[in-house]
Amino acid sequence: MAFPPTPPSPRRPPLRIAIVASECAPFAKTGGLADVASALGAALWRRGHDVRVFLPNYRSLGEAGHQGTPGLDTWTMEFPGRSIDVRTLKIALPASENDEGEPLQVELVDAPTLFDRDGFYGEEADEPLRWAAFNRAVLEAFQRTGWSPDVIHANDWHTGLLPLILRAGYKWDQLFADTRTLLSIHNLGYQGAFPASSVEMLGLDRMRDQLHQERLQQGSINFLETGLLHAHWLSTVSKTYAREIQTEDQGFALDGILRQRDDHLVGIVNGVDYADWSPDVDPHIAAPFGPDDLAGKRVCRDALLDEFNLAPDPKGPVYGIVSRMTGQKGFELLPEVLTPLLQQNDVRLCVLGSGEKKLERYFQWLRDTFPDKVGVYFGYKNPLSHRIEAGSDVFLMPSRYEPCGLNQLYSLRYGTLPLVRATGGLADTVERYDPEAGTGTGFVFYEYESSALDGALRHSLDVWRDQDAWAGIQCRGMLVDASWERQVREYEDLYATVMTDVHA
Ligand code: ADP
Ligand code: GLC
Repeated sequence: MAFPPTPPSPRRPPLRIAIVASECAPFAKTGGLADVASALGAALWRRGHDVRVFLPNYRSLGEAGHQGTPGLDTWTMEFPGRSIDVRTLKIALPASENDEGEPLQVELVDAPTLFDRDGFYGEEADEPLRWAAFNRAVLEAFQRTGWSPDVIHANDWHTGLLPLILRAGYKWDQLFADTRTLLSIHNLGYQGAFPASSVEMLGLDRMRDQLHQERLQQGSINFLETGLLHAHWLSTVSKTYAREIQTEDQGFALDGILRQRDDHLVGIVNGVDYADWSPDVDPHIAAPFGPDDLAGKRVCRDALLDEFNLAPDPKGPVYGIVSRMTGQKGFELLPEVLTPLLQQNDVRLCVLGSGEKKLERYFQWLRDTFPDKVGVYFGYKNPLSHRIEAGSDVFLMPSRYEPCGLNQLYSLRYGTLPLVRATGGLADTVERYDPEAGTGTGFVFYEYESSALDGALRHSLDVWRDQDAWAGIQCRGMLVDASWERQVREYEDLYATVMTDVHA
């Protein structure tokens, strides 16, 4: 049942790296950013780096029993017309299989007036202030501990202001004399655009001339754009997405800036934490399995159909979906193809997700129309997401765009063939099955059209009839090493570049 281990690589001199993010698994997660923040942090930590991960102390942490222990005592941050009390708490990342020694401590920025609320992201008027204050609190926490980061690794729009605030507000402090910033784009579709009138309340008035002037004249401040302008280096989560975001089609109106910064922009595909996502050690699934022995996968499949109350023993494959339900994920392509697929074939579909109401209504309709064949769970349920990965035969990701995508990487490990559109990280991580050459790890389609998706689904049905070929694809996928142990080296190289590049 053994998976091959990742070969060790030479240790590097320890770096001081701060990862700042709005999500970090298992404490606060809506999507892949949470997995990346914790797993990259933990992988760097295991490699001997001095890592600090910062996350807001949302109300839900306490509710879920994630109580931090005291860190820094309360201090007050002044914003125009408002004082904000903040302190830090520490909480250990749960130890994983590979952890020897002390676990990494995540630092929770505890500012109750801003984060003791339901949900992570809000629509209230002080939303920009919540994130500006979070960014400032992180910098002030460094000052209070006298810790001088080599690289502050910011993530997505919530931390987009951090590079500017550091440059324009704190650079006087010798502590930050050599500190560099890296901003990772996990999703260009979310930018944090707010009315220009918020500039004053954020305490950015004196940095006004360093904001994007045209944007201000148009009446807004865009946090992600500000980060793209001021971070020393930029990265995103796959090489293909790094190219795509420089095109008008996928650039969400920021492609111009990204093209200008092309020589400081790289793509690094996310890794997988195999201590959490591997069928030989997964505590959430019905039976363990691995590349040498897939008997347990059959048990997981039967258990999954049972859990969703679906008819057992289908002749065709079980398809799985675990996803936020948003336009990005390409589900608008499904209605045209799924109805005939389900009518004409003895297949099953298990869906886990939540999001836009019109998509939820569609999946609800599908379940009502095919009650023996389609199971849907609306909500967020981590153990079930593991069981869908383990029990499905094919995992569907017809994304319109996908910066990296993690579920296709989990699917590979669980012997579940990913069926993906070739975009972003999906294009970089799933190799199209080629029956002639006997190569490939999944089913891939290209055009963003239902007919192209239909072709890939039909292909999966054909290949299913040849179970030897199927097992070959499974085996190749299960042997792919997408571990963080491997990917972390690319970040180490990038941090080294960020630290030494005097032109950034
Ligand atoms: P994105 O970050 O765009 O949502 P990714 O594929 O990078 O997409 O990561 C999604 C992560 O969130 C995966 O770990 C997936 O298992 C998880 N996830 C998404 N929706 C749910 C859900 N409803 N319940 C449990 N886990 C979910
Ligand atoms: C984003 C992207 C997803 C990526 C994740 C982590 O949410 O939508 O493709 O895997 O961030 O980088």
